[in-house]
Amino acid sequence: MRILSGITPSGECHIGNYFGAIRQHVALQSDGEAIYFVADYHSMTSVRDAAERRRLVREVALDYLACGLDPQRAILYRQSDLPETCELAWILSTVTPMGLLQRAHSYKDKVAQGLKPDHGLFAYPVLMAADILQFRSNVVPVGQDQKQHLEIARDVAVDFHRTYGQEVFVLPEPHILDDVAVVPGTDGRKMSKSYANTLRMFWPERELKRAVMSIVTDSTPVEAPKDTSQSLFQLWSLFATPAEREDLFGRAKAGGLGYGEVKKDLLARLLAYFAPQRERREELARRPSDVDDVLADGARRARALAAPTLAAARHASGLGI
Ligand code: TRP
Repeated sequence: MRILSGITPSGECHIGNYFGAIRQHVALQSDGEAIYFVADYHSMTSVRDAAERRRLVREVALDYLACGLDPQRAILYRQSDLPETCELAWILSTVTPMGLLQRAHSYKDKVAQGLKPDHGLFAYPVLMAADILQFRSNVVPVGQDQKQHLEIARDVAVDFHRTYGQEVFVLPEPHILDDVAVVPGTDGRKMSKSYANTLRMFWPERELKRAVMSIVTDSTPVEAPKDTSQSLFQLWSLFATPAEREDLFGRAKAGGLGYGEVKKDLLARLLAYFAPQRERREELARRPSDVDDVLADGARRARALAAPTLAAARHASGLGI
């Protein structure tokens, strides 16, 4: 089994990313040959600051390593360290029907959110298809929002095979990450950097405390029963066993439980849960060249795995000799 996924460095990782993707990515590294990359090319459609992009690539790599990605086992590389992916994206773009991209929800959503509809944003799924197809990866763990992009990758592979009469690629299967975890943000909406409602597990304790204490709740008095569908309770549940959850939700519904108490306990649990990762991250951050080494080694290994497919795609389409 060859597992592949990309992580767009559009912000530092928060607990929504952790429970929605990082945790599952780390677990999958024991199930097969896992390849993960920091998608800096893809980030170009939203992040327009060069220094910020460089910084975010490192931060995200550190976040993954701190959360248990093991570079001995899995590959971690920076997407732009394999510029040949862009050549494959071009080759694939010449067999990609416009209509296929025009139907992409993610493109339409981003434009609706106010992103400038440039060609990169439009062609985003083709680059993603190249990421995937170059490794002949069969399992691609992504969130529900990326499912259509995988269908596009499959369609594009089929179009290439039909055009050039050779089966160069393996059709990838989506492995949709269970959303235990549409993790709510501190304001009750989905946790997202663009809503500024995140909890980042690696913030200094003071900052994390401020963010937890600012979680929005209704104004039910302490004695009254509480609505446990509020984000405070959902966030707290991420760090509790089912029995603890049942107990706390029972107390909340009975009345007499104050939100302040739940927030304090959430903070304590969050800090305890991420203490080993935090320690590991501080250690890694003290030796910045280690991350560079991991990414360089990852690029070397990834390049070797992708090279035969890229050569086959060039050969099949009549490029070069
Ligand atoms: N577009 C994906 C996201 O934002 C990131 C990504 C880029 C990706 N290339 C990929 C995911 C290839 C899986 C496979 O989440």
